[in-house]
Amino acid sequence: MPVISFANGKGGSGKTTSALLLGCEFAEEIDLTIIDADPRHPISRWASLADTPSRLTIIENDSEKTILDQIEEASSKTTWVIIDLEGIASRRVSYAMTQSDLVIIPAQEQQQDALAAIDIIQEIERDSRAMRRTIPYSVLFTRTRVVAKSRTARHIAEQFRSSEKIDVFDTELNERDAFAALYTTGGTLRDLNSNVVNNIDKAIENSYAFAAEVVRKVQAIENNRKSEVA
Ligand SMILES: Nc1ncnc2c1ncn2[C@@H]1O[C@H](COP(=O)(O)OP(=O)(O)O)[C@@H](O)[C@H]1O
Ligand SMILES: [Mg+2]
Repeated sequence: MPVISFANGKGGSGKTTSALLLGCEFAEEIDLTIIDADPRHPISRWASLADTPSRLTIIENDSEKTILDQIEEASSKTTWVIIDLEGIASRRVSYAMTQSDLVIIPAQEQQQDALAAIDIIQEIERDSRAMRRTIPYSVLFTRTRVVAKSRTARHIAEQFRSSEKIDVFDTELNERDAFAALYTTGGTLRDLNSNVVNNIDKAIENSYAFAAEVVRKVQAIENNRKSEVA
């Protein structure tokens, strides 16, 4: 049943890349659906480049009028549903977030992304109030440097990580050629050619750690919900 959406009003924060990596990791083991709800349909475009994992279904969403039906239908067919959202605030984004068990907010360690992350957190809190249910969310730092982070990057990450209110992934998605290469080659990290792309094994390790942390978070959220009901 888990529905995971990726939201941040800023383009280029890493929503599509994180959604795609998560989808490919899960597809190693389970059936899942990605709803591509970005008008430019980057995930459909990726899927057109090469074979995609057999356990992964991709559907396009083009309207706020159909997003709720599509989420419901996808949830009835596959256990996990991942939604890649557009980089603006819209009713479609809110609808998707209200149906989510976890909203992941990808953000680069930059001021503009951090501000956009705060905006979407405020939107999630308004949507939670409107729905009278807490919508869990977590910030995921993306495109981070493996070595020699800038002072600004360290400062932004520390501010989020020290906040009592805001949940942040321990895992960061590093800036890696392998992640960007997926958009030109199609397929998964495991299909990349190591003669052409550097450090594929590190990228796989990173992507796997991210997926494992998503699973742990969703389990914790479900356990919390059960103990509230009990
Ligand atoms: N971790 C990463 N490492 C390398 N390149 C990345 C990474 N995340 C994103 N990119 C690149 O940055 C661009 C924007 O990322 P994307 O995931 O499309 O952001 P969004 O969906 O939030 O607009 C993409 O072209 C992608 O190739
Ligand atoms: Mg995108």
